Amino acid sequence: MKARTLISVVGARPNFMKLAPVVRATARRDQVKHIIVHTGQHYDAGMSDSFFEDLGIPAPDHNLGVGSATHAVQTAETMKGLEPLFLDLAPDAVLVYGDVNSTVAAALVAAKLGIPVVHVEAGLRSGDWTMPEEINRVVTDRLADLLLIPSRDAVEHLRNEGVPRERIHMVGNVMIDSLVRSLERAKDSDFPSKVFEGAEVGNFCLVTMHRPGNVDDPATLRSILDAIDHIGATMPVVFPVHPRTRAQIDRLNWTAKNTDNLRFLQPIGYIEMLSLTRLASLVVTDSGGLQEETTYLGVSCLTVRPNTERPITVVEGTNRLVEPGYDAIVAAFSEFGRQGKPERPTIDGWDGNAGERIVQVLCDDMVFPID
Ligand code: UD1
Repeated sequence: MKARTLISVVGARPNFMKLAPVVRATARRDQVKHIIVHTGQHYDAGMSDSFFEDLGIPAPDHNLGVGSATHAVQTAETMKGLEPLFLDLAPDAVLVYGDVNSTVAAALVAAKLGIPVVHVEAGLRSGDWTMPEEINRVVTDRLADLLLIPSRDAVEHLRNEGVPRERIHMVGNVMIDSLVRSLERAKDSDFPSKVFEGAEVGNFCLVTMHRPGNVDDPATLRSILDAIDHIGATMPVVFPVHPRTRAQIDRLNWTAKNTDNLRFLQPIGYIEMLSLTRLASLVVTDSGGLQEETTYLGVSCLTVRPNTERPITVVEGTNRLVEPGYDAIVAAFSEFGRQGKPERPTIDGWDGNAGERIVQVLCDDMVFPID
């Protein structure tokens, strides 16, 4: 194999779990120089540094420090920072992950410089053009030279959009690689008992909520919070709150009825989150990653969204979609109460080895056919 320089661009929390397995797999190849660029889209220690530590990712070689802004400004600042870096480092390929603004910004810069773009987690579609992530996914896939898919349902979307089949490789789910590798540490973690202040960790509901569609409109957020409060009448609720959501809740002047059962936390690290997810009776979320993690772990999940780009978690997994609103969430919670613990499914390519397959595609010209 000839020597290769790869650049991975990451920026936001869900990127970091996808990067870690690729870092480990490239580190096993002497001829690969893997440079990590952090755009700085997420910058709080609890949203970024703690993930690098938990996942054993070396500190980024470059940090652009773009921070928070409107979509256009954030994307533009990221592009401005990346262009001179790509020109200077002249990589053989740029790897981008998932669907955040840093992903599409890096793909645009690389494509315009004629540098091959590799999209890790290609081909997911919600069909919902109001979600910024859907725009990012479609544009990134259009720009990508290699499309590495996490599950076979992605093939149809990409083929419908005219992507030649030889560019698509079924490498599996890198997010699950990080989960598999971290599970023992999560089992050993004393974080859940700390959250419950030393009391026994029994049935509880784990909540995350951060999508603009759920938290930016005060009426929608209030009705979701009221539904979470309703769940709190039956079981403890643990809710690590994203900074975007925290700011919106502060503005809302909302008060809960079941305050004793509701535990609002600061954003928590990867191992801490996994230590809670594996023990939760129910997860209520609008996160993409948690839909996959709960499916892998066999934990019931209610996804508070009208659609998902990860339908495999509904069709084969433990996930169920619920309209964002009090009545729908309360009804879904009642139904959850009538069901037993779901089966833990096995999904093709969700096996802990996706990072290695990615590096085989990149370095050994391996093919992971899509049918
Ligand atoms: C971004 C991604 C979303 C992903 C989410 C995970 C896009 C379009 N969205 O959304 O797909 O699910 O990350 O968290 O890329 N903030 C902080 N500290 C930080 C980062 C953000 O306080 O370290 C606050 C700021 O007020 C900021 C807001 O959170 O304005 C939103 O951050 P931003 O990166 O724009 O989007 P997310 O909502 O985090």
